[in-house]
Amino acid sequence: MHWAQRFFMAAAFLSFVAAGVVFPGEKGSIGVIMPTRSEERWIKDGNAVKDGLEKLGYDVDLQYSDDDIATQTRQIDDLITKGVQVLVIASIDGSALSNQLENAAAARIPVISYDRLLMQSPNVDYYVSFDNYKVGGQMGDILIAGLKLDQATAAKPVIIELFAGSPDDNNSVGFYQGAMDKLKPYFDKGALRVPSGQIDRAVIGTLRWDAAEAQKRMENLLSAYYSGNEVLNGILSPYDPISLSTLEACKAVGYGSTPGKPLPMVGGQDCIVASVKSILAGEQYATILKDTRSLGAATVALVDTLMQGKKPVGLDTASYHNGAKIVPSLLLDSVIVTKENVQKDVIDTGYHTVEELGL
Ligand code: BGC
Repeated sequence: MHWAQRFFMAAAFLSFVAAGVVFPGEKGSIGVIMPTRSEERWIKDGNAVKDGLEKLGYDVDLQYSDDDIATQTRQIDDLITKGVQVLVIASIDGSALSNQLENAAAARIPVISYDRLLMQSPNVDYYVSFDNYKVGGQMGDILIAGLKLDQATAAKPVIIELFAGSPDDNNSVGFYQGAMDKLKPYFDKGALRVPSGQIDRAVIGTLRWDAAEAQKRMENLLSAYYSGNEVLNGILSPYDPISLSTLEACKAVGYGSTPGKPLPMVGGQDCIVASVKSILAGEQYATILKDTRSLGAATVALVDTLMQGKKPVGLDTASYHNGAKIVPSLLLDSVIVTKENVQKDVIDTGYHTVEELGL
């Protein structure tokens, strides 16, 4: 290359730097692990974190673990070997990563537990999530409003069945507890009844949030407890695909198409496209929007703070004990979505477009 050409390129490079232009990967490398690509929300989460970090000049290694714990442990081991500077992890089984977290700590890599709390390990530095107990409370509120529980009495109780999330995901505890605390007064006065008697979280859990498993359980409940005159009025669902699959089970035995058997009232969580469509069609009653863009942005800001060698401030240091320590947390708010606010909170904010919703 002619010296003049070299001089010109060097000058151009320096003027870029002077102008504050950041080159990809210049600021360091961040490992991001998401549990699965087969659920809409985690794809949005992964993209939000990756895009945000890349815009700030970080190199991002984003990996999805196919809901397989062995894959996830291997991915984390690889990222540690590659020398990432921060790890952001949304676990599958929150208690299965202690060895990896120990290795990360030994390599002085800060770990951010993303959405799901990493359990039983002192080597978790931060937790970024929604207030899961409050989210559970919203699940209860959805049933209270949708089923008009304030008007129910012991003489004419409302009939529901309960579903919980994956037992190995600590979020399931908050969701269940938050919902049950809201519903307790109605159970106590006999205004709410669960004919199957299946109420404990251990019994109503859905491993890996598997909607097909929940559908099967709903089918079994319907044939065991509802073959006579009993009519199911509502379902506590912690997750949109479970809401949709349990509704399918109900439809298959005539709910929604037989006089006296309207579709049961069901809420949900994650505001997935299929559920918003179902809400607009008058089937699923509500969902809970946990804006993955906000969670991604909060995570990006936290990573950037750590990479600048600063200490994050304003974190909650009381709410989340993971069995080994209190993990400083950043907890965001969620929004209940019904037909009434789909436009304002889902479409106007750009969370889903009218095209995605087929409108
Ligand atoms: C998340 C939920 C999600 C579920 C299934 C939970 O940990 O908080 O938003 O619906 O996992 O992926």
